[in-house]
Amino acid sequence: MRGLWFLATIGLVVAEDGLNGWLRYARLPCDVVKQAKVPATIVALNATESSPVYTAGQELQKGIRGILGKALDVTHETSEGPSIVVGTLDTFNGSSATPELEEDGFWLNTKGDTVEIIGQNERGALYGAFEYLSMLAQANFTEVAYATNPSAAIRWVNQWDNMDGTIERGYAGLSIFFKNNATVSNTTRIEQYARLLASIRVNGIVINNVNANPIILSDENMAGLGKIADAMRPWGVKLGISLNFASPQTFGGLASFDPLDETVIAWWNSTTDKLYEHVPDLAGFLVKANSEGQPGPITYNRTLSDGANMFAKAVKPHGGIVMFRAFVYDYQNLNESNWKDDRANAAVDFFRELDDKFDDNVVVQVKYGPIDFQVREPTSPLFAHLKQTASAIELQVAQEYLGQQCHLVYLPPLWKTVLNFDLRVDGEKSVVGTDILSGKRFDKKGLTGYAAVVNVGQNTTWLGSHLAMSNLYAYGRLAWDPTDDEVAILEDWTRLTFGLDDTVRETITRMSMESWPAYENYTGNLGIQTLTDITGPHYGPNPQSMDNNPWGQWTRADADSIGMDRTVSNGTGYAGQYPAEVAALYEDIETTPEELLLWFHHVPYTHVLKSGKTVIQHFYDAHYAGAETAATFPRQWAKLQGLMDQQRFEETAFRLTYQAGHAIVWRDSIAQFYHNVSGIADAQDRVGNHPWRIEAEAMDLDGYKVTGVTPFEVASGLRIAQTVDNSSAASASATLRFPAGTYDVAVAYYDLYEGKASYELLLNGARVGAWVGDNEDKLGFTLTRGIDGHSATRVTFPGVAIAEGDVLRVETKPDGRETAPLDYVAVLPPGVVD
Ligand SMILES: *[C@@H]1O[C@H](CO)[C@@H](O)[C@H](O)[C@H]1NC(C)=O
Ligand SMILES: *[C@@H]1O[C@H](CO)[C@@H](O)[C@H](O)[C@H]1NC(C)=O
Ligand SMILES: *[C@@H]1O[C@H](CO)[C@@H](O)[C@H](O)[C@H]1NC(C)=O
Ligand SMILES: *[C@@H]1O[C@H](CO)[C@@H](O)[C@H](O)[C@H]1NC(C)=O
Ligand SMILES: *[C@@H]1O[C@H](CO)[C@@H](O)[C@H](O)[C@H]1NC(C)=O
Ligand SMILES: *[C@@H]1O[C@H](CO)[C@@H](O)[C@H](O)[C@H]1NC(C)=O
Ligand SMILES: *[C@@H]1O[C@H](CO)[C@@H](O)[C@H](O)[C@H]1NC(C)=O
Ligand SMILES: *[C@@H]1O[C@H](CO)[C@@H](O)[C@H](O)[C@H]1NC(C)=O
Ligand SMILES: *[C@@H]1O[C@H](CO)[C@@H](O)[C@H](O)[C@H]1NC(C)=O
Ligand SMILES: *[C@@H]1O[C@H](CO)[C@@H](O)[C@H](O)[C@H]1NC(C)=O
Ligand SMILES: *[C@@H]1O[C@H](CO)[C@@H](O)[C@H](O)[C@H]1NC(C)=O
Ligand SMILES: *[C@@H]1O[C@H](CO)[C@@H](O)[C@H](O)[C@H]1NC(C)=O
Repeated sequence: MRGLWFLATIGLVVAEDGLNGWLRYARLPCDVVKQAKVPATIVALNATESSPVYTAGQELQKGIRGILGKALDVTHETSEGPSIVVGTLDTFNGSSATPELEEDGFWLNTKGDTVEIIGQNERGALYGAFEYLSMLAQANFTEVAYATNPSAAIRWVNQWDNMDGTIERGYAGLSIFFKNNATVSNTTRIEQYARLLASIRVNGIVINNVNANPIILSDENMAGLGKIADAMRPWGVKLGISLNFASPQTFGGLASFDPLDETVIAWWNSTTDKLYEHVPDLAGFLVKANSEGQPGPITYNRTLSDGANMFAKAVKPHGGIVMFRAFVYDYQNLNESNWKDDRANAAVDFFRELDDKFDDNVVVQVKYGPIDFQVREPTSPLFAHLKQTASAIELQVAQEYLGQQCHLVYLPPLWKTVLNFDLRVDGEKSVVGTDILSGKRFDKKGLTGYAAVVNVGQNTTWLGSHLAMSNLYAYGRLAWDPTDDEVAILEDWTRLTFGLDDTVRETITRMSMESWPAYENYTGNLGIQTLTDITGPHYGPNPQSMDNNPWGQWTRADADSIGMDRTVSNGTGYAGQYPAEVAALYEDIETTPEELLLWFHHVPYTHVLKSGKTVIQHFYDAHYAGAETAATFPRQWAKLQGLMDQQRFEETAFRLTYQAGHAIVWRDSIAQFYHNVSGIADAQDRVGNHPWRIEAEAMDLDGYKVTGVTPFEVASGLRIAQTVDNSSAASASATLRFPAGTYDVAVAYYDLYEGKASYELLLNGARVGAWVGDNEDKLGFTLTRGIDGHSATRVTFPGVAIAEGDVLRVETKPDGRETAPLDYVAVLPPGVVD
């Protein structure tokens, strides 16, 4: 027992790199361990090593050793005496009260000193083992006896990994699947990922980017896919791949890739047969066609269903399915001068007439909203039109438009706005999660479900951020049961990831639940979308980039008004794509929920909301409120020091501090931009008015020159200072005129990729702090070489004693592309966020 105590104590201080995610199996405290009644042996009713039942036995052994410090034997034959028995319904020989189980479901019975884990299939048995371990890890020793079944058969993840090892929208290092246009040979990380996925009951994964490289079909790569599938099979995770529609021509050397051409069909047939030789249980294909420049059937004037069915027929004899993305639109022909043009209309326009045209093993994969993973979107109306076609929802764990894992944004509250939405198809209850994706509302022959874009990379944290992992965990839980409570999920994840401390759980839960509303507040509200750089990295602020281009993510902001008129009566007609009751709701500005006001209506900035505020004032207030909320995150987190290992504490503290600074960049940029275009003042006079700031351009500069930036609004006061060349040291100083007191001193600057400028902050010649512009090593968002809303950042030094007349000085040295760009210094009294 002494040994146990010792381990439990060091568990807190030993650094943790995040590799085990929520499957850490950390030792419970000794007094808690005593309460656990655990049988002496594990019986896994399958001795084949590739069987998920065998895996379940190994995992139970590993978990119990970690959590309770008890070494249990694993056997594969039933024996006398108390045991944990895990197996499929078939291998249980009806020895248990046979529960009602559907595919992948399981029964968990922990009565007395016997534990029964019965899967409907092998995968279900493994899920049951993970469920039991999750209870133990949370010190939940309640006796239970229940069956649980998935809400939908398809619970997949999509990786957007490129064959060269980069990841589209990846912010956590290079691919764990590919390198140098080939599959990797070391499958250790792949097995570890499959284990995480199995524990959240994800049963399929498409490993390569939807913008697919046909080289995945080479003989060498097919063999590599076989190895990858072998590595994941013991975890019950099936492999799928994305295909490039033009492969028969660009890779196969045929003259065409016309889906109705017999030679093309024969080519896909034989390519598919070959794939199945390497991966006999290949789950199927994912296809992005005729979207954003990708080839597809429309290239040959064929329908999207002609294209999808070609693949469907090829995989049908093997039991495979085709996930066909509904993200089809023609970005080259959208023209903002046409008031009725609307990218949001595209999916329904393309797919509505095809509902009875798809083969029964085609699943149309629909993004949650009609545009593209925005901070808020209405539910895609396409779900209401696919009555005969199977459908799946596409969510995004990768936070492409939601802070790229450098901002904490817990996504389930956003996902729930869609999963809980009642589309009222034909006037009947048609809730997206429980009625449509479950396949209950329309008969979808058991083929419906979920796909989430996930961007795990080689980083030991998987997603670059420890806290971002709650989104992956919650995705699996919600795909299993979309009615699962987002707070309860978060609490389970927190206990599994950080232990049982109440303060840790309460703090992470509170911050996470505030994080999406805060992010929406400081990025884009009232349904205007994430006001980011849509032609660039999709990360920092750049509201003007949304308009005057054919990408169709328009705001239509002009000097007087803003928003997309998507009404039927006078706008793009998008509202009319919904079933009648919902269409009526959105058609009328009075009944449109205000969080989607500017999605559906074009209004003057002076339009008055139900709160009594104008649209423009709401913009200002929400942006200030959101940044205030983000400013609390590092302070809340600081209280957790000592309650977890130092490594995860510090890495997370860094990100939350960065987020608080970048939230102010967002706030100021958006407020300044709309202040500029509308010319309407903030009622509270905050915008452009910063009494505690000293603008770089107003400081005494030596070796610095004053410039503007693009876009103009990402600089406080519209100007910054940059060193005159790329090599000479420079400085900026100012005499302080603030009353004597203790202040937090923040320095706003720009941290570019390719360069590590150094900075030192001095007060009357004494060092307050020093740092280098090395965020590129610490944060994984899409890198930028410019001085813009992505590179804008700030550091804060708390508790600096200052007297009137003191001289504050920043000494810098440029490096590489970084001309030590300085925006301002803020001297902030306690409680002021600016
Ligand atoms: C044991 O596992 C193997 C591999 O998954 C499977 O083929 C076999 O059917 C299983 N045996 C039983 C009795 O379930
Ligand atoms: C079911 O029967 C098989 C074959 O007789 C045996 O190996 C297995 O242990 C039995 N399972 C249980 C749970 O009794
Ligand atoms: C223990 O786990 C069971 C099964 O998941 C759950 O129903 C119950 O609420 C949990 N108890 C506590 C105290 O969390
Ligand atoms: C990978 O393939 C691309 C074409 O898709 C090619 O441009 C690139 O040079 C290849 N890279 C390697 C390392 O072979
Ligand atoms: C495979 O990768 C793992 C971790 O990613 C590493 O620990 C191991 O050494 C690698 N194995 C080989 C043979 O390179
Ligand atoms: C392709 O495969 C499907 C399914 O096996 C078959 O029905 C079809 O005739 C094949 N077509 C060609 C041209 O090979
Ligand atoms: C597709 O149809 C358009 C208009 O009907 C025609 O101009 C074009 O040549 C056709 N393309 C092909 C590849 O058949
Ligand atoms: C967009 O439409 C306007 C008005 O019809 C036209 O003048 C303009 O050339 C169009 N732009 C493009 C890129 O087609
Ligand atoms: C993981 O990412 C963090 C933050 O981006 C970085 O500091 C660390 O070096 C990375 N570690 C690995 C092993 O890639
Ligand atoms: C109707 O649409 C026109 C553009 O065609 C727009 O200028 C006008 O403001 C809209 N009217 C209303 C009442 O929304
Ligand atoms: C978001 O902004 C609104 C409007 O100012 C405010 O009422 C709300 O508290 C803010 N929420 C968060 C989490 O920042
Ligand atoms: C908006 O910004 C532009 C560019 O800096 C400037 O010329 C213009 O005066 C500003 N307008 C207002 C109303 O602030």
